[in-house]
Amino acid sequence: KAGVFTHDPGFTSTSSCESTITFIDGEKGQLLHRGYPIDQLAAKSHYLEVCYLLLYGELPTAAQMEDFEYRVTHHSMLHDQMQYFFRGFRRDAHPMAIIVGVMGAMSAFYHDSTDITDPWQREVASIRMIAKMPTIVAWAFKYSMGMPFIYPRNDLDYAGNFLRMCFAVPAEEYEVDPILARAMDRIFTLHADHEQNASTSTVRLASSSGANPFACIAAGAACLWGPAHGGANEACLMMLREIGTVDRIPEFIARAKDKDDPFRLMGFGHRVYKNVDPRAKVLKASADEVLDLMGIHNNPTLQVAKELEKQALEDPYFAEKKLFPNVDFYSGIILEAMGFPTSMFTPIFALSRTVGWISQWKEQLSDPEHKIGRPRQLYTGAPYRDYVEVEERG
Ligand code: SDX
Repeated sequence: KAGVFTHDPGFTSTSSCESTITFIDGEKGQLLHRGYPIDQLAAKSHYLEVCYLLLYGELPTAAQMEDFEYRVTHHSMLHDQMQYFFRGFRRDAHPMAIIVGVMGAMSAFYHDSTDITDPWQREVASIRMIAKMPTIVAWAFKYSMGMPFIYPRNDLDYAGNFLRMCFAVPAEEYEVDPILARAMDRIFTLHADHEQNASTSTVRLASSSGANPFACIAAGAACLWGPAHGGANEACLMMLREIGTVDRIPEFIARAKDKDDPFRLMGFGHRVYKNVDPRAKVLKASADEVLDLMGIHNNPTLQVAKELEKQALEDPYFAEKKLFPNVDFYSGIILEAMGFPTSMFTPIFALSRTVGWISQWKEQLSDPEHKIGRPRQLYTGAPYRDYVEVEERG
């Protein structure tokens, strides 16, 4: 089993888990959801259909998809008391701080779907999380700008509803651009699940203690916020802006190679992929499409990103260490072109990944042994010693 660690006293513990949801072949740069490759799902499917696939294991029939979409659409509203929860935050709070707080608080508002021993409550909690995340994330965005909340509408699709809740204002109607909605939906799909990454492992660990679903997903969102994980798309765009022009790229590549310099190329490298992240390939193509749509031509940030990728991939250091662009390398460029500030990049990642967290949470609960994820340690601290009174200490 992967992740088997043998400790000195002959102690063996496994910190792996078996899963049927997502498979990554790091050497090939392949990502499968229930056996279907991500590039085909990104091209031919849509986010809610991928949600169904991740949750239930098979692509839905037309009738199953209609029923699932109806249930998600009709759970997109938040308990109206929750808006007072939002209003308790400072206006300049990072949207992730608000989102993690609100997600954790959901167990206080939806306590009728917190009993993890009841399969029906588990199902309701799953639908509620997927349905309400666009509203939570959009309201965190609106609140951070001092703008009124926009309520979801049932006549819009999942991505279009989110865009409207983010960019509409009461003073004028917002027409959802279908190409923008398609690009948004594709970003959701590409971030939906990714095997046992740090945030998903956090959710599994929390769920193995029997914590309620909203608490488990909030724990995952808190972990995703880290700059080495879900925060990397924000960090990558800041890096591309700092580089500024293609003539400065060699300076930053040299820094990334310098062992004494803590600088790393954000959006590059991966714990598992030792080939190009297949999601990065789709996002690179999508970046051109979205920027053209937004009338943004010769975007300097995209030019720097493409030239940086080219020079890094030609550099023996990155080739030898098998460092390639990951999902975060181009996603920030697209989201910025769509009108989102960098502070909204990780929240959109969390929105997309909620179905992955929920699917893995349900799978962890279905584990008959409910193995408590409790990795052992290799103790290297002080040996046994008796207490020393303060008068006798040196
Ligand atoms: C995500 O796991 C997931 O699935 C996560 C994710 C998901 O969808 O959930 O894919 C999302 O988190 C993608 C990763 C986003 N993070 C970044 O882009 C931040 C920059 N990347 C790194 O911090 C780093 O690449 C990690 C943390 C992602 C992986 O680090 P590792 O495990 O150290 O990578 P590695 O073992 O492959 O590194 C090999 C070598 C090391 O040098 P040596 O110790 O061998 O001398 O390459 C170096 C690393 O120091 N290295 C880099 C580098 N990433 C690794 N050097 C320069 N720039 C980089 N980006």
